[in-house]
Amino acid sequence: MERWSSRLVFVLAAIGSAVGIGNIWRFPMVVGQNGGGAYLIPYFLAVVCLAVPLMILEMAVGRHWRRNLVASFGRAGKRFEIVGWLICLIVLLILSYYLVIMGWTLAYLLFSLLGSTVTFSSFTSSLEPLAYFLISVLATGLIVSLGVNMGIERIVSIMIPFAFLILVALVLFCVSLPGFHPGMDFFIQPDYSMLRRPDVWSAAIGQAFFSLSVGMGILITYGAHLEDDMDIPQSALIITFSDLLAAMLAGIAIFSLVFTFGLEPAAGAELAFTTLPRAFELMPYGQIFSVAFFALLFSAALTSSISMMEMNVAAIMGQTKSSRKRASILLMILLVALGTPSALSYSSLDLRFFGSRILDLMDVSVGTIGLPIAALLVAITFRWLIDDDVLAGQVHLSERWLRTLSILTKYVIPAALLLITAAMIMEL
Ligand code: PHE
Repeated sequence: MERWSSRLVFVLAAIGSAVGIGNIWRFPMVVGQNGGGAYLIPYFLAVVCLAVPLMILEMAVGRHWRRNLVASFGRAGKRFEIVGWLICLIVLLILSYYLVIMGWTLAYLLFSLLGSTVTFSSFTSSLEPLAYFLISVLATGLIVSLGVNMGIERIVSIMIPFAFLILVALVLFCVSLPGFHPGMDFFIQPDYSMLRRPDVWSAAIGQAFFSLSVGMGILITYGAHLEDDMDIPQSALIITFSDLLAAMLAGIAIFSLVFTFGLEPAAGAELAFTTLPRAFELMPYGQIFSVAFFALLFSAALTSSISMMEMNVAAIMGQTKSSRKRASILLMILLVALGTPSALSYSSLDLRFFGSRILDLMDVSVGTIGLPIAALLVAITFRWLIDDDVLAGQVHLSERWLRTLSILTKYVIPAALLLITAAMIMEL
């Protein structure tokens, strides 16, 4: 089995998986919709108490057995392999619509480069999103088919430093804008009354897992290539810190722009594709910022989609003994089939299901409800069904920290996930 060629590339690959559209587009959007800064409290709590411990558990499981997700589930008994496949399916479905949004970012990158102004509604009502979706499938599939060392490592080593550079440059500029202070007031000032609403808590927990790519076996897959002497808790902290940093920096940039140009902070899904392009139109040198912003979104999306694809490719390769190339091609075909309805859902064909656009429905179903279910299955299987003490063997911490981690992963995480899954299903 391939190994990561250095510790740094593993951390970059995991940051690549974590930092994505979820940080730059979804995070400011949910903060905007959930009343600004109040949301940050449950979000930080969910990250620290739930997502980080589960991230450590996943990496430990990955390195302990050095297997793909399905085979790792198989350690609990052959019949549990089906649970692994179910999680693969959830991730594949998330990937199918994630690639549609990644296609939008690619299109907007090209529009900004060409200096053309295209409204979101005229773009999405055409058939163009389908073409950009197909390019996104192809790009992701091609990189993954080259393997861990030749494909994934090379891309993340370029894209992640590049993405952070753009992000920092954007923030440095935005700090000087007149909307910076009101933007920060909105972004950081807590409105404590929001904390009484259970839906704010479940949105925060869901966002924490989505943003850190935790609970879906991606880190089990990436962890299988880890060197034995790599410090797992330390890596988890670096990955989490980078992900939080990216989300906060994106929030600072976006809300400064929104308040400078008097736009709507709670615009929802339209924030990145309608509100911000308007700001870019109004500002001096807006075209450069627009190119930088969409290049950032696209590179962040690409390194995340690679991780979702790799997890599925590794499972197919390991379980069917097919080659990496064949597994990648098979998945690309599946993704085109699964994602085309989402790619067309905003078009004039107006594909709807139960009255909602298919892409929105996918985000609400697999993206929001599927994710805690997957995380619950991961936590229960690897903490309750396999008594082999993986954590203690792989994670070198003091007795006290190890016990805390053990309690969090065994009781607190399953209980919290069970609660929010039940709450979400009841809300339907
Ligand atoms: N974490 C990625 C983001 O923030 C999305 C993602 C979700 C990646 C699930 C892998 C698995 O955009």
